[in-house]
Amino acid sequence: MFNVWAADSLAPHLPLTKEEILSLLEYPPNDELGDVALPCFALAKTMKQSPQLIARQLADTISHPSFLAEAAGPYLNFRLNRSAFGEELLRAVRADAFWRPNIGGGKRVIIDMSSPNIAKPFGIGHLRSTMIGNAIYRILREVGYDTANVNHLGDWGTQFGKMITAYLRWGNPADIQASDNATKEYLSLYVKFHEEAERHPELEDEAREWFRKLETGDKVATELWREMIGESLKQFNKLYDRLGVTFDHVLGESFYNDKMDAVIEELRRTGLLEESDGAMVVRLDEFGKPPCLLVKSNGTSIYATRDLATALYRRNEMDGSLLLYVVGGEQSLHFQQVFRVLEKMDGSWEGRCKHIPFGLMMMEGQKMSTRRGKVLFLEDVLNEAVEQAKRIIEAKNPSLRDKEAAAEAIGIGAVVFGDLKNTRTLDVDFSLSEVLTFEGETGPYLQYTYARTSSILRKAAMSPGSEALSPNGAPDASPAGNFGAAAAPYALPLRDADFGLADNAYAWPLLKLVAFYPARLSQTAERYEPSILARYLLELAQAFNRFYHHVKVLEGSESEQAFKLEVVKAVSDLLRKGLGLLGIRALEEL
Ligand code: ARG
Repeated sequence: MFNVWAADSLAPHLPLTKEEILSLLEYPPNDELGDVALPCFALAKTMKQSPQLIARQLADTISHPSFLAEAAGPYLNFRLNRSAFGEELLRAVRADAFWRPNIGGGKRVIIDMSSPNIAKPFGIGHLRSTMIGNAIYRILREVGYDTANVNHLGDWGTQFGKMITAYLRWGNPADIQASDNATKEYLSLYVKFHEEAERHPELEDEAREWFRKLETGDKVATELWREMIGESLKQFNKLYDRLGVTFDHVLGESFYNDKMDAVIEELRRTGLLEESDGAMVVRLDEFGKPPCLLVKSNGTSIYATRDLATALYRRNEMDGSLLLYVVGGEQSLHFQQVFRVLEKMDGSWEGRCKHIPFGLMMMEGQKMSTRRGKVLFLEDVLNEAVEQAKRIIEAKNPSLRDKEAAAEAIGIGAVVFGDLKNTRTLDVDFSLSEVLTFEGETGPYLQYTYARTSSILRKAAMSPGSEALSPNGAPDASPAGNFGAAAAPYALPLRDADFGLADNAYAWPLLKLVAFYPARLSQTAERYEPSILARYLLELAQAFNRFYHHVKVLEGSESEQAFKLEVVKAVSDLLRKGLGLLGIRALEEL
């Protein structure tokens, strides 16, 4: 916000655009040096003057009611008029425009996220796709994109031949139906298949035969396949409910089975499809990539073929202008190949598809492999996190109402934030005890800070003699929390607030951080990087807690209290929204 003021006032005096100026501006680490600074080194060459002289001349020319511009050597420092800025900011946060910078302009974005495989465990890796995808989905919508998310279920492929074989030989339908997590039963069948197939290779032929039957619509095969989808979805949907994740479309890979011939036909027509050892491929030599295999020598299609058909569907039937794929970094080559094939088919695909990769997630140093059955089920991880959260609540605040719901929100919030705070492309080593502490850089720390802001606002509304401060409706204090839905607004008397307090050593850094929200949110959206928002919320919570420990909000004159409550309200709104955008429940009470 203030960087925009600075850029606006500089623009008429410099041979640069506003955007260029904005990118040059720096934020001095120490308030004493000013609030924002223009280093003049880069200008010296074009303006044929020394940076010192440029800074001095600008300082003499620029005048603005809300800040002072002063030269300090080669820098032009802007020092804000704190009370004017505080007032402007606290008015701005009351308008939707502050919270929802429109950078999307209604552009249609289709987001491929979560996309677990049927009859396989929903592991911790799919958690990353689910939660990073969910945050990107919510954030893009917030900043003005027209978004749709798709769960591209892995419900097709030769592994279903193996699953059917194992199921018919060793499966017990009663066990599976009775199990509260059928994917666990399926996993042991899958593991057994691989163990047995080592000694009895003929099982592989049996599996191939079952997949062939499935492809040709055999009744038994199709029924078993449907059952596996139904049972797996029961389990996945339980997880999505707990995580607060919803989908606009759930379309498995099998949905594209009847849409692949058209793609292959088009590739043939454009002369891109070539034979290679009996298989059909599209060569990508000019990109230095291995050829993209699309039809195997036995005539069957593969994952990449389905992804081509999927992309066409998302563009043609879903009107997607931009297609995002939130999928682990280990599939980078696959997406590069698919995207290049699309571009070769039709130049208008250029830049339309983006792979949003993320790193591996390990649990206390352990990697996981489905084949050997060493898998951490997300459900078990969530349950353990909630158990631990329950113990912490029991120790800290045994009288909290509805502890179960609070523990659920905190345990899950801890896991989700423990994921999202990391730069997404990095590998994450996850430790439950670390993500669950209330003091560290954690989800519970943010939830606790939000509950604190909420409690101050509740107290202010209740304190006698403060009618002027009373809310026109208290927020929903449900301990189950919400995902950023606006609590009822407090009607605080802005005009009676004492904005002189903006100068307070603990209020000022907090106000400045709040002012950064729209820029941080935009950055998060532009880079598809939820960790930017996550880390910003931590910074804000830390500044708020310093403010809280040094400034007694509910003391002092009425106009002083009014100002402080406005600050608390802004922080509270910001934390609730920010947590909601990350898919984490905000709790009114903790
Ligand atoms: N089901 C795949 C997996 O678990 C992820 C699918 C990602 N989406 C896509 N369009 N290929 O590895």
